[in-house]
Amino acid sequence: MAPQPSAQQVIEGQRQDWNRVAGGWEKWDRFFDEQMAFLNHRLVADARLRAGMKVLDLGSGTGYPALLGAQTVGPSGTVLGVDLAEHMLAVAGRKATRLGLHNVSFKTGDVTALPLEANSFDAITSRFCLMFLPEIPKAAVEIARLLKPGGWVAAAVWSAPEKNPSIGLSMEVIKQVVELPTPDPTAPGIFRLAKPGDLEGLMQQAGLADVTDQEFLAEWSYASAEEYFTSLMEIAAPVQNLMVRLSDTQKQDVKQRITQAASNFRRGDRITFPIAVRIVAARKPR
Ligand SMILES: C[S@@+](CC[C@H](N)C(=O)[O-])C[C@H]1O[C@@H](n2cnc3c(N)ncnc32)[C@H](O)[C@@H]1O
Repeated sequence: MAPQPSAQQVIEGQRQDWNRVAGGWEKWDRFFDEQMAFLNHRLVADARLRAGMKVLDLGSGTGYPALLGAQTVGPSGTVLGVDLAEHMLAVAGRKATRLGLHNVSFKTGDVTALPLEANSFDAITSRFCLMFLPEIPKAAVEIARLLKPGGWVAAAVWSAPEKNPSIGLSMEVIKQVVELPTPDPTAPGIFRLAKPGDLEGLMQQAGLADVTDQEFLAEWSYASAEEYFTSLMEIAAPVQNLMVRLSDTQKQDVKQRITQAASNFRRGDRITFPIAVRIVAARKPR
């Protein structure tokens, strides 16, 4: 098994990885917004956002779901989006400006150690961030500390790889072409919180109540297998990390195998993949 990097090394790696793909996220922004906006609505609903609330979004990246949160809480409310990667946040800031939103701000920081006052947020949201943390229990404790009593948190993380072939298949194909060290199942990564009950348990241990853990099934679709491959390579930092280990010939081989495997998901004139997202919500007791 590969040796475990320290928490600080993971954080630094994450910062570099997501900064590197920020341009790709900006390029594909409209596509992913069209494909996955429903998740932002689901998180905004599960965190019970209302006008006037003060909201924290953890790992906002290019602004999801912070921007929808800001529209929901309106001018009398505020949203603070925190992320390690300043280039991702710069994209989020440009989108906020384009949308004319003055009640959302973005700040760099590690969500497991936030220099923010206890009991100061009405609600917390987070989309596809918590599984990348080296110390997830610490983030749950931070959430419990920062929420006002009675406030809700809602977080989305990827469910199992076999239910998310659009992510899982690229990993499988790369493994067929090059030998990779067996990943440590407890190491941070895309599917680290895929098991039912994992994030739910951490929320409970942190003292949060009324915890729900639901798998949310949906689909996303691409115009072609090539569009799928290109977008994957330009936004998926964990997949990029595997690709850099390959020679040019191996990369060509991987591309051919991934597009071929993606073609099995053709429905009508599009490539349509099932996706499965785990949505965990909880409330801080009064
Ligand atoms: C897959 S992106 C998701 C971004 C956005 N929430 C979305 O759903 O589009 C993961 C984000 O988590 C951020 N991240 C990872 N570890 C973090 C940490 N310890 N503290 C803050 N942000 C972190 C990354 O920088 C990256 O922008």
